[in-house]
Formats: sequence, C-alpha cells, structure tokens
Amino acid sequence: MSLLRDLMIGRENGLRARLRKLFGQGGGGAAGDTKASGGAHTAASDRPPMAAERALNLGVEAPKDVTPPDGYEVVLHKDGLKSGQVIEVIIAGKAIAVANVNGQYFALSNACPHAEGPLGEGSLDGHTLTCPYHGWKFDIRDGGCLTSPGDKVRTYPVQIVRDAVCVAI
Ligand code: FES
Repeated sequence: MSLLRDLMIGRENGLRARLRKLFGQGGGGAAGDTKASGGAHTAASDRPPMAAERALNLGVEAPKDVTPPDGYEVVLHKDGLKSGQVIEVIIAGKAIAVANVNGQYFALSNACPHAEGPLGEGSLDGHTLTCPYHGWKFDIRDGGCLTSPGDKVRTYPVQIVRDAVCVAI
C-alpha cells in the first residue's frame, strides 16, 4: 500500500511533496514562484518562471549571466550540488536527475525504467545510483542498469560553463 501511495503521489518528503508544499494545496508559494513542472505559470497569476533549483531549496541559484552552449540548458549552479549528491531538476518540462561525483556532473532521465521511480531521489555511491523504490542500481556514466542488464536509463551530455551546470536536453 505504501509503495502504491509512493508511486501515485510521491514519497512523503520527495520532490512532489516539496513542490506541493511550495505551490499548492494551501501552502502557497512565495511571490514570484511558479510550478516547477516545465515552468508553467500558476493559474492565479502571471508570475515569472523561477529556477528549478530554487524550488528545491538548494540555496544557490543558477547563474543568470551564463549563455549555455547550443542545445544546452543551465540547470543549476555547480556549488548547488555537493559531491555525492543527486537531485531532481525539472528543466524545459523534463524531469532529470543530476549527480555530482567528485566535481564531475552527470545527468540522466529521472524515470527509472523499472516502474518510473524518481532516480533523483535515489542514493549515490560513487558512480552507482540506487532507485529509491525497489533498489535497482544504475551506472550514471552510461545509464546502464547493474541490476537488470539490458535495461538502461537515458543520459544527457553535461558541460560546465563557468559556475553553471549545463545539460543538453
Ligand atoms: S522503480 Fe523499481 S527499481 Fe526503480
């Protein structure tokens, strides 16, 4: 039952719960906030879009003065994610998981190929990312599944431009 609840509405302190707290269901976001799902504006106003990492309370906003390479989007400030951490970021309407391993950044689809578990809420051990739902393990360098060989999660190219982590979505 708990698993079904997690699948349907997310984990108690997962991204969806945090976003609901920030933007909806009586919580009310701060002025200037919008829903993080693709930067869609709230129905109540024409609030400007906000950086996804601000919604996640990373504490460090993405650099606004960086022009990403063609085809890339600035997803967060490189100091916004410590080594050994992984996080969900919604950018250009897509949920991706961004990981930092010893200052090297990786991006992959947030949806686990097993049952759509949120990989950005998983745990990271070196280059191995473990899905929070049923524990499938992935190599974040190529997206290969270590638990179920043959399954794979999509990865995205990453470039660092000054302080910005840029991902080709
Ligand atoms: S959803 Fe089952 S292991 Fe990821």
